[in-house]
Amino acid sequence: MGSHTSLDREAQNILRQNDRGGYTVPTDGLYPYQWNWDSVFAALGFSTFDLPRAWQEIHTLITGQWDNGMVPHILFHQDNEGYYPGPEIWGCNGPIPSSGISQPPVAATFVRRIYEGDPETGRAHLEKLFKPMQDWHRWFMTWRLDRGAVCVTHPWESGRDNAPDWDGTMERIDPVGVGEYKRRDTSHVSSDMRPTKFDYDRYIWLVQLGRRLGWDDAKLLEENPFRVADPTMTFILLRASRDLAALADVLGAPRDEIDGWISTLETGAASLWNDKIKCFDGRDAITGDFSGSISNASFLCWYAGIHSDEMLAHLHRITASCAYGVPSLDPRDPRFDAKRYWRGPVWGMMNTMIGTGLAEMGYRKEADALATNTADLISRHGFAEYFDPSDGTPAGGGVFTWTAAIWLAWASPSARAV
Ligand code: GLC
Repeated sequence: MGSHTSLDREAQNILRQNDRGGYTVPTDGLYPYQWNWDSVFAALGFSTFDLPRAWQEIHTLITGQWDNGMVPHILFHQDNEGYYPGPEIWGCNGPIPSSGISQPPVAATFVRRIYEGDPETGRAHLEKLFKPMQDWHRWFMTWRLDRGAVCVTHPWESGRDNAPDWDGTMERIDPVGVGEYKRRDTSHVSSDMRPTKFDYDRYIWLVQLGRRLGWDDAKLLEENPFRVADPTMTFILLRASRDLAALADVLGAPRDEIDGWISTLETGAASLWNDKIKCFDGRDAITGDFSGSISNASFLCWYAGIHSDEMLAHLHRITASCAYGVPSLDPRDPRFDAKRYWRGPVWGMMNTMIGTGLAEMGYRKEADALATNTADLISRHGFAEYFDPSDGTPAGGGVFTWTAAIWLAWASPSARAV
């Protein structure tokens, strides 16, 4: 175990190593492009030691924005043989070769935080970024709502690729005609830490569907069988819209439209309450069925500004049941799988948002405990992509950008001292 200052240095080195000149890859090999929310976390990490580089990361992300406002989940800045599905499979026409779906819009929240760290240099950046971020939020509000909650149209869009939230919907899809394809992820990482073939066939089938429909939102709304109201998206867009409204005030821009979104999303967040398990949950927008999972996304309610004593009781029970929290699925759930991606492992960046929400809601003790526990996890087990909650075994990619970033901005004792 290293001292926290040597770990701070190591984390900075990881960000530098994963820097490809204006954007940061999540990790070398497994994810060789710019991923949307990873990149915003990278910016947050950079902001602790290189502010211009932090702003540059966000500007590069926005260069991929489509005319309709959507900011893609992957920007393929350069060709790379090691990843599938690449730009030719997605078949998109954005300003930069990209995927055809988005990812949770954490940008406005962390742009606000970076801006507030240094308003003087931040002002010019904010002036450039405000409209693109507002356009992006408007795209979600136009195309993705179900009862006010935000839907994902592909499991990858939520950022929680193989979470049980999608199981019921994925079972109803028959991936007919998907054809032969060669996965690349399992040549970088052991297959028992990655999604199954059942899931992968459907991931690719959904990409083929979007491509066939020219990534036209109206057509996808009619034809796509995958439409799930997601706690990740709903809580994150709600939170980001509150931050966007605060940024509108800074710029003296009108905020009425954004305030309208906030109240719609508050109603939407309430619609994700599954009374059977007393928890915020994913809901299939076509069948209305809940997934029945207590996930780490359920605990983003505080980050979105929503109080819930019942969620606090779940948090106490779950964190008491494993060495490292917050597991991506309740260990009591029969679908729990300690090493398989979003079906059990702990993710540091999710902990950062959960911990931030807890602190803001006044749950200081829980917020501190989560940050200390995450710092302990990283200092013992390294900057891995994700970790087994029972003993901290590192899993997935080894030298990971967002784990390094959240160490610098949230978990490290030096981050907490400020
Ligand atoms: C996986 C994760 C997703 C992340 C991406 C790059 O697909 O599920 O959240 O953005 O990897 O790290």
